[in-house]
Amino acid sequence: MTRLSVNINKIATLRNARGGNIPDVLKAAVDCERFGAQGITVHPRPDERHIRYQDVLDLRPLIKTEFNIEGYPSRRFLDLVIKVKPHQVTLVPDAPDALTSNQGWNTRKHQDFLAGVISELKKAGIRTSLFTDTKRETIEYAAKTGTDRIELYTEPYASAYRHNPDKAVKPFAEASHLAHSFGLEVNAGHDLNLENLKFFCRSVPYLEEVSIGHALISDALYFGLENTIQLYLRQLK
Ligand code: PXP
Repeated sequence: MTRLSVNINKIATLRNARGGNIPDVLKAAVDCERFGAQGITVHPRPDERHIRYQDVLDLRPLIKTEFNIEGYPSRRFLDLVIKVKPHQVTLVPDAPDALTSNQGWNTRKHQDFLAGVISELKKAGIRTSLFTDTKRETIEYAAKTGTDRIELYTEPYASAYRHNPDKAVKPFAEASHLAHSFGLEVNAGHDLNLENLKFFCRSVPYLEEVSIGHALISDALYFGLENTIQLYLRQLK
């Protein structure tokens, strides 16, 4: 079964809006696990506008499932993750001021840089994943970096899903097959929600994990966090 990692950045965004500790990000992470999440994802950005570097340090001893830290591999980010040693680091190419991750790596252009970063993370015993699009060349060069996994950027699927689900998912199913043939494991994320998740998971083989934040936390406003996590888990079965 594909595993659900809950991205808790939005909870930190809400907390930071008032400057206090409501909602409590650490409690939310522990509760997500208690409600069935199989992993927790955070994305500390350089300006710390949602998850802060201190949150990442505080979360480490509390998380009992899989801890996934996403981010651009700046020196500061790498020092943080090597200290924290999460199960997985997902490398994303986004600029410091990006609203959200909005593209995957150009793995051909950045092959050497990524290979160096991945080797450093592997020496620290951390599994690596590269945020990518579905192009053949991207995946071929991703495999050459030595990464363990890729995370397919699913925004193009999500935006095309309503119009033509089969057409929207096809490149993702093909990319996953290709990645598997290169020995890469496959994650996916971005803009997945209760409407489009089930079809994606049914159609894309070898899917290890999805990481979901925005829609899941928004759904929790209506359904509550526990129910919402259960609803998402049901889509993955
Ligand atoms: N994967 C990556 C690399 C991301 O940057 C994000 C957003 O922080 C997600 C997955 C989750 O996307 P969403 O919040 O749309 O579910």
